[in-house]
Amino acid sequence: MAELDVKQLLSGTCLSSISPLSPLDSSEKFSGSHILSIIQFSRHDLDELLLVAGKMKLIVESVGMCDIARGSVMAVLFYESSTRTSSSFQVAMQRLGGQVLAINDISNSSVSKGETLEDTVKCLECYTNVIVLRHPELGAALRASKSLSTACLINAGDGVGEHPTQALLDLYTIQAELPAGRGLEGATITMLGDLKHGRTVHSLAKLLANYKNVKINYVSPEQLKMPKEIVEFVAEKSQGTIQQSEYSTLEKILQETDILYVTRIQRERFSQEIDYLAVANSYIITPQLLSQYGARSTLRILHPLPRVNEISPQLDSDPRAAYFRQMRYGLYVRMALLSWVLGKKLPENLGGTSNLNKGNYDTPQLASH
Ligand code: ASP
Ligand code: CP
Repeated sequence: MAELDVKQLLSGTCLSSISPLSPLDSSEKFSGSHILSIIQFSRHDLDELLLVAGKMKLIVESVGMCDIARGSVMAVLFYESSTRTSSSFQVAMQRLGGQVLAINDISNSSVSKGETLEDTVKCLECYTNVIVLRHPELGAALRASKSLSTACLINAGDGVGEHPTQALLDLYTIQAELPAGRGLEGATITMLGDLKHGRTVHSLAKLLANYKNVKINYVSPEQLKMPKEIVEFVAEKSQGTIQQSEYSTLEKILQETDILYVTRIQRERFSQEIDYLAVANSYIITPQLLSQYGARSTLRILHPLPRVNEISPQLDSDPRAAYFRQMRYGLYVRMALLSWVLGKKLPENLGGTSNLNKGNYDTPQLASH
């Protein structure tokens, strides 16, 4: 294998737009830190994380795993359902050589006896180094982190608040999927669906504020608009260089869109079913709709998933559908993030198979894309 080339790893990404490395090492900044919000990440941190994620991709595709996290244990503690986040964090830790303790069904834990979130994470801290938490309450990750003294807490979704690690993998996906030579700067990102309750779009909008001259279109029913505080945060942080516009349909803006970020109407966040039914199926993306509104051949459709009905399965085989690749990228990004939080660095001279092959590595056959 050729010397490690991170540019190739992020095939099609715009590494030319990545700023030169500053003396501040992001991996040290995040070592031993809780990951609660995407606003903890500077532009420099984001650039560095993508580079490490690219190296993780190479490791996974070439030898399957490394052992930098050997001796570390990660707990996943999910008070809400999950397929991707829980499983990708677990596999990320295993592919770094660490171990996993999974509590995906809290009804079988002492939470059902009335144990508080604080006491539950304090318990897990006795056995683990990092706790990945998903919880229905806004601010739960921050609250839980305050009762920890040795373990780090990673927010895997706190109610209608944030889902920071999803935004990091969304960034990787956008960078990897934009046409070669096209940077995120100058791109038009259209977010569609339940922007009020969707924690993934909250984190993604805040993340995009690190980039200049991005255009963000928010498309939603009137009652599900992006919260004003987030629109204001993006305007302030980007010093007005990001143009933000609100729409109720895609009709006028699909043609100019580079990234269409589709979200599910978050049924579980509505207090009354009738209010959900009033907006359910507001948008359904189909091949016909893409042609009718003149979508580009280079458009990429992202979705944090799960989808309900908002993207027709007929689109799945269209090269513009990036949502399944997006899940895969999440593995590399979560491996990179875990390595930082655990304070474990990849060897400096990572490159060529000689280093990677020294260990007794599992080498699953992994499809590349
Ligand atoms: N899986 C994502 C989340 O947990 C998006 C969704 O559920 O719609 O926020
Ligand atoms: N994207 C995401 O968070 O998916 P899950 O809810 O399946 O974890």
